[in-house]
Amino acid sequence: MNPKINKIKSKKSKYKIVCLTAYSKNIAQAIDRHTDIILVGDSLGSTLYNFKSTRSVTLEMMVRHSQSVRQGISNSLMVVDMPYNTYNNPSEAFKNCKKIMKLTKCDAVKIEGGLKIIKIIKHLIKNKIPVMGHVGILPQTTRGKFKSKGKSIKERNQLIRDCMLIEKAGAFSIVLECVQRQLAKKISNSIQIPTIGIGSSNNCDGQILVIDDVLGLAESKMKFIKKYIDVKKIITNAAKNFKIDVKSKKFPTKKHSY
Ligand code: KIV
Repeated sequence: MNPKINKIKSKKSKYKIVCLTAYSKNIAQAIDRHTDIILVGDSLGSTLYNFKSTRSVTLEMMVRHSQSVRQGISNSLMVVDMPYNTYNNPSEAFKNCKKIMKLTKCDAVKIEGGLKIIKIIKHLIKNKIPVMGHVGILPQTTRGKFKSKGKSIKERNQLIRDCMLIEKAGAFSIVLECVQRQLAKKISNSIQIPTIGIGSSNNCDGQILVIDDVLGLAESKMKFIKKYIDVKKIITNAAKNFKIDVKSKKFPTKKHSY
């Protein structure tokens, strides 16, 4: 097993696991020292390409962005999201995951779902593809408004069962997206692999956020987002100052010219 994956697993219940997404080398390089996991999320569909859903993201897009991100990582475990429609059955999943692993040199892949994809997870693990699970809100297959998970007993029992099955199938961790806090606690206490929460409370073993939300580059309004800096404002100011310098001929000086 990849030692970086063992390290992530050993943090369970001891140290919080820090995860962020990245879609390019420069961002990956800037965050890598402070993250345990960098995910090339298919959220790039909405954050970078303005797609209505992640369903339009292709394998080729994930390969190109992951190849860029790979150049910026030396510390974190690199996980790549398998896009919608690339893991419909075990053999298709293996073929596409193998391609992603080979072309991007990532450490693991992430796929969305519970009971329905257990056979696929088992097949990938058997063929040495490390897998991160993803339950709760499943952006690739959820239609309509995203609603938190765990409101009914049926939903709670199903999610607990799904996580246990994902662990048994051999995944090394599971993302819990918008899972209610008590259920996130119950799940985290019921399985031996780390849970990584997004909108699922600090009852999870780690946390993940989309980098564009953290940096204030995206317009997302989800409750779980925390903007740590307004990079959009900083960029706008830089462009404004550049414009002032160009118009007033303050830039370029001799120093910036050949
Ligand atoms: O695509 C993504 O960025 C994700 C995270 C939000 C977990 O799946």
